[in-house]
Amino acid sequence: MDWWHAIDLPDGSVTPGGWDLRPTAARIPWPDLDGKRCLDVGTADGFWAFELERRGAADVLATDLPSPFQQRARQRFEHARDALGSRVRYEELGVFDLEGEFDVIFCGYVLQMVRDPAGALAALRRVCAGHLLLIETVSLPLEALPSPLARLDARHDGREWFVFNRRGLRKAVELAGWRVEEQTGVLRDHPGPLPEAQRASRSWKYRIGARGRSCALRAAAAGSATQLFGRDG
Ligand SMILES: C[S@@+](CC[C@H](N)C(=O)[O-])C[C@H]1O[C@@H](n2cnc3c(N)ncnc32)[C@H](O)[C@@H]1O
Repeated sequence: MDWWHAIDLPDGSVTPGGWDLRPTAARIPWPDLDGKRCLDVGTADGFWAFELERRGAADVLATDLPSPFQQRARQRFEHARDALGSRVRYEELGVFDLEGEFDVIFCGYVLQMVRDPAGALAALRRVCAGHLLLIETVSLPLEALPSPLARLDARHDGREWFVFNRRGLRKAVELAGWRVEEQTGVLRDHPGPLPEAQRASRSWKYRIGARGRSCALRAAAAGSATQLFGRDG
């Protein structure tokens, strides 16, 4: 089984995933999670959902958009959940179909996958009564420009829509009705034990930062999305 995430299991083993988010978790500007109702959007193998639970959340719902990728990831999620003795719940749901109310929402590397990232942020705002934790890939070349910017098809392979610079990510979040409380600098993504991931991380693009850089932020639910021209504008 090819894992997406490196997850620590109670027997001392680590799932052999492509992404090791354990060092990144130490850089997230976490709010108090004690007793909170939490949601993880685009959970894949569930790393962030299990992390929310580990850090004290009372209830965690992991969600992901139905797809062949998600079906395989769900099997890995269930394997990890059983091994961890976790109570995280799972639902097959896309970011635009969320319902209910959550105190804390985690959304990791999902905005780059959707054609309407501002709409996705507004959809998250509608189901959040507390905080959003966001981590996204950022474009290092665009960091050099002092404006809120995004790049289309940043990897030239059709696998991403928009990749922002840090100012652009912050601006998109604010326009969707959030108040940004804290934002990290540029973070380096860490490959997991999966051999392909180890190989990719040694490429020149990763080493100079053209790949594998991200930024995290914490935003409070405050206000509503900016609307310039009716519901869709
Ligand atoms: C790059 S992976 C990130 C996985 C995990 N959140 C993380 O931080 O490692 C992107 C995830 O977003 C999910 N995704 C893609 N489109 C989505 C949508 N419209 N709504 C919710 N999740 C989506 C994918 O299924 C996948 O699990």
